[in-house]
Amino acid sequence: MLTTSLPGGTWTLGGLTVTRFGYGAMQLAGPRVMGPPADHDGALDVLRTAVELGITHIDTSAAYGPHVTNQLIREALHPYPDALHIVTKVGANRDPQGGWPPARDPQSLRRSVHENLETLGLDVLDLVNLRLGDATGPRPGSLAEAFETLADLQRQGLIRHLGVSNATPEQVAEAQAIAPIVCVQNMYNLAHRRDDELIDALAGQGVAYVPFFPLGGFSPLQSSVLSTVAARLEATPMSVALAWLLRRSPNILLIPGTSSAAHLRENIAGAALALSADDLAELDTIGR
Ligand SMILES: NC(=O)c1ccc[n+]([C@@H]2O[C@H](COP(=O)([O-])OP(=O)(O)OC[C@H]3O[C@@H](n4cnc5c(N)ncnc54)[C@H](OP(=O)(O)O)[C@@H]3O)[C@@H](O)[C@H]2O)c1
Repeated sequence: MLTTSLPGGTWTLGGLTVTRFGYGAMQLAGPRVMGPPADHDGALDVLRTAVELGITHIDTSAAYGPHVTNQLIREALHPYPDALHIVTKVGANRDPQGGWPPARDPQSLRRSVHENLETLGLDVLDLVNLRLGDATGPRPGSLAEAFETLADLQRQGLIRHLGVSNATPEQVAEAQAIAPIVCVQNMYNLAHRRDDELIDALAGQGVAYVPFFPLGGFSPLQSSVLSTVAARLEATPMSVALAWLLRRSPNILLIPGTSSAAHLRENIAGAALALSADDLAELDTIGR
């Protein structure tokens, strides 16, 4: 059984126990998530630091770079420790302008699963999220053909567990009617709380919710209430934002992104911040 001193303890994704404090690797690819990092050795150091500090959940995608973050993960960490679980996603390609065109036809999905296996150096992917919607957020529409393709790859033994990303609650339910899911990865943070009801419903089902952009992503979270609470606690706004997510629901898993080992350490320390009932009530006003 995995024990951890990381804030939040652990969560079990299907049969895979992971630390609730994970790491999102997207920031390791170059500007606009296209190309190699400016500091290749620094990127390897961030990944190795994450594992040394006990993180067992790393989020990636073949679309980051493309392929760059998967290659860095392999270079830094292969052969992987048994406890480490790498979560990837399929469903989008990259175009030369850095866009993220959907690639959810069966052929593209099969190709992407095989690319992830190859670039990560794995025989089986622990968890694959089907990324839906577009860069502006979730979009309604059936995921049946795409999700059935992934369920088929799971039956073939290439994928252990499935999840969905950038999904509407209706698409989550549609996926669950096709095959069990162990997580939903959507945009959510102190200021962006569209998924409040979904998070609570998934908690009741034992399904993880993994917020992307937990710190605001490319536009850092900015709120006078957040700054006030952080100043009172003598903490950074980022620490408060991460600690709040861990407190928000036990099924929330963190994957904050950073290209800096120092920021990674700061974020781990910050997520352990104690928030009082008054702090929580005040923070609750930001995104309501
Ligand atoms: N499913 C999807 O569609 C989807 C979409 C986007 C992202 N994701 C996943 O979610 C993960 C998290 O999202 P994200 O990385 O885009 O956004 P994020 O975690 O909200 O924020 C990352 C940004 O915060 C900065 N940062 C982090 N810690 C900091 C600190 N202590 N002090 C100052 N700045 C700090 C980083 O800069 P530095 O590098 O300078 O630290 C980076 O610019 C990604 O890595 C990716 O795996 C998934």
